[in-house]
Amino acid sequence: MAIRMVREQNEPILRKKCKEVKEITPKITELLDDLADTMYESNGVGLAAPQVGMLKRIVVIDIGEGLFEFINPVILESSGSQTGNEGCLSVPGKMGQVTRPNYVKVQALNRDGETVIIEGEELMARAICHELDHLEGILYTDLVEGELMDAEEEEEEE
Ligand code: NI
Repeated sequence: MAIRMVREQNEPILRKKCKEVKEITPKITELLDDLADTMYESNGVGLAAPQVGMLKRIVVIDIGEGLFEFINPVILESSGSQTGNEGCLSVPGKMGQVTRPNYVKVQALNRDGETVIIEGEELMARAICHELDHLEGILYTDLVEGELMDAEEEEEEE
């Protein structure tokens, strides 16, 4: 387990599309562990593999309800809408308003290679959409409505 360096906004790797994980090797489970360590160390609620320089379809999320690990996640359903502030560990000190679905249903693999279905509402739905966007090279700053603002200290970042 280790803390990895979080890549910032101007780094080209954050703009690339991530590759599907074909096999869950020890390197992949180590990456999952390191993503969680790095997210908690940075007080984030989510982190995606490209944010630590790995172009793999892997994200971790913990909005305060326990750790969720997603390998090769796909959104199966989404509904409703919510508009609120978002931040990102790759865009430190900033936040901005983004509209997201209020509900999403995701299929992914867990670290044992089992298919799992995860549903999220409100902040969980927002975090899932934000992190899955990272796998496509999309940052929330692409979607922000109005101005990017300076974040307050206690804002959650993803
Ligand atoms: Ni982010």
